[in-house]
Amino acid sequence: MGGVVDTALDRSVVLGYTKLGSGVRRLWWPADPPANAMAGKRVVVTGATSGIGEAMVGSFARLGATVHLLGRDAAKVGRSAGAVRASLPGSEVVEEVCDVSDLDAVRAWTTDLAGRVDALHGLVHNAGLMPKRRDETPQGHEVQLACHVLGPHLMTVQLLDLLQAPDRAAVVFMSSGGMYTAPLQRWSVDELESRDGPYDGVRTYARTKRMQVVLADEWAKTLTGSGVHVYGAHPGWVETPGVAEALPVFRSVTKPLLRHVEDGADTAVWLVATCPESKPGHFWHDRAQRPTTFGWQRHQDPRAVVAFVNQVSALTGTERNVLSEHN
Ligand SMILES: NC(=O)c1ccc[n+]([C@@H]2O[C@H](COP(=O)([O-])OP(=O)(O)OC[C@H]3O[C@@H](n4cnc5c(N)ncnc54)[C@H](OP(=O)(O)O)[C@@H]3O)[C@@H](O)[C@H]2O)c1
Repeated sequence: MGGVVDTALDRSVVLGYTKLGSGVRRLWWPADPPANAMAGKRVVVTGATSGIGEAMVGSFARLGATVHLLGRDAAKVGRSAGAVRASLPGSEVVEEVCDVSDLDAVRAWTTDLAGRVDALHGLVHNAGLMPKRRDETPQGHEVQLACHVLGPHLMTVQLLDLLQAPDRAAVVFMSSGGMYTAPLQRWSVDELESRDGPYDGVRTYARTKRMQVVLADEWAKTLTGSGVHVYGAHPGWVETPGVAEALPVFRSVTKPLLRHVEDGADTAVWLVATCPESKPGHFWHDRAQRPTTFGWQRHQDPRAVVAFVNQVSALTGTERNVLSEHN
């Protein structure tokens, strides 16, 4: 019964993505992680100075984890860490400053982290944005491509040894249901970088969120059997400062039904805390695996996936194409 209702909620989008979806699914979804499930464990959350990311830090801390709260603005990082510590006395929150879209900053920060810690049990690539105008990073990459795809990929490469140190660890790419509107194609570098015509922030958002899902799936395949589980996920529609700024009309129409930030953070936290087995696609929402394409869409073209992975490798300047090596 749960399965049929769950699928119907998912396909209806409006019912599944709002708080109605999680409200109903809670009746049958898998159990919460045990109290203190993450005691002695260490997690990095990017984009943790606002919205879903900040809520995630609180949820991990409540499970006993040491949480590295990463943002690009030191003052905001300090404020968010202070808020979590004040609401959860005794919690271990480490402040981290890194602009995920700046590949040099990612290299410097990951090198620094590797000198400070021995192991990492979770890494959530949550940082995200949807700007109205095209902007470039110091390396000349379009900012959404860099923040959603290139930075997280490079960060994963750089932190692989730390993630492989414990018996098991999880990496989550926080995507969006918006990715369903942008099936992966053999995008040229100009298209990846949104140089193909007038900039449309929503279109670039959907494309880069699709790229995250494909990348998560490729990483999951690559790391099968290594103890590192990789997932894509989407949070549903969540009331956050990001939504208020980027989509004010959408927000005012859907406001009564938008999820609370902790609800939006739930599946990513649950994935890291429980590391469930995952099938190809590896895309999750509301503690269940979801399709990466709907029936009326064609399946992912494997040649487009290979071309995309090679482009990401080249654009991040990773010395070797980690993903192809394992496939
Ligand atoms: N809210 C939703 O309904 C929804 C739906 C689908 C998917 N998502 C995804 O969920 C994630 C969180 O979204 P949200 O709604 O919580 O957004 P939000 O309130 O705007 O929070 C985004 C966070 O990412 C940070 N960030 C942006 N660019 C960064 C960079 N280059 N380096 C480091 N941090 C950076 C922001 O920091 P600053 O404050 O410094 O900008 C902020 O802390 C995003 O990936 C988003 O795409 C959200």
